[in-house]
Amino acid sequence: MFVQTVYESRITGNFGPLVLLALQKSAVVRNRELGITSFLYHDTERIFQVVEGDSDVLTSTMGRIQASNLHTDIKARAMLRCEERSFAHWYFGATHAQDPHFLRVYRALKKPPFFKLDVVDAVQILQMVARKKRRAVKMDQFSIKVRNFNKNKEPRALLAVP
Ligand SMILES: Cc1cc2nc3c(=O)[nH]c(=O)nc-3n(C[C@H](O)[C@H](O)[C@H](O)COP(=O)(O)O)c2cc1C
Repeated sequence: MFVQTVYESRITGNFGPLVLLALQKSAVVRNRELGITSFLYHDTERIFQVVEGDSDVLTSTMGRIQASNLHTDIKARAMLRCEERSFAHWYFGATHAQDPHFLRVYRALKKPPFFKLDVVDAVQILQMVARKKRRAVKMDQFSIKVRNFNKNKEPRALLAVP
């Protein structure tokens, strides 16, 4: 049995790609050690994050998240026990209002602005975005493999003409 916590908060200063990358770097390592999975959405003003794991480690993780001065006004939107994680493949996944994967999902659904959604809808939409991102990563890995495979082939010009 896992616990899933969903909160939203207000960004205090700069929450650009570099800040997120630094956060991601440390959070991925810690979340992996603790068995926490998580997915985050942000626009220029607010953050929405789903954090899931065993209840004791979740409490300490939420304490760390609350202590950060990158955001303030942290409000719990939901806390529920669940058999399965919603973001089992993500130690610290993230998307944002201008992310093409997010926009593609969101435009197709014709929903109100993200922070006006009820929490179930919001989590489901992030799951769709997460699935799209995973598929894109798999395709990238596949094309790298194909490219490497082709590199191992003898260049055509060097093949002996029969
Ligand atoms: C939006 C946000 C999400 C975070 N998510 C996680 C997380 O998933 N796991 C974790 O261990 N810490 C998380 N943290 C905490 C940071 O890894 C780090 O402990 C914190 O930012 C350090 O505080 P500082 O920014 O005030 O120096 C998060 C912090 C923020 C602001």
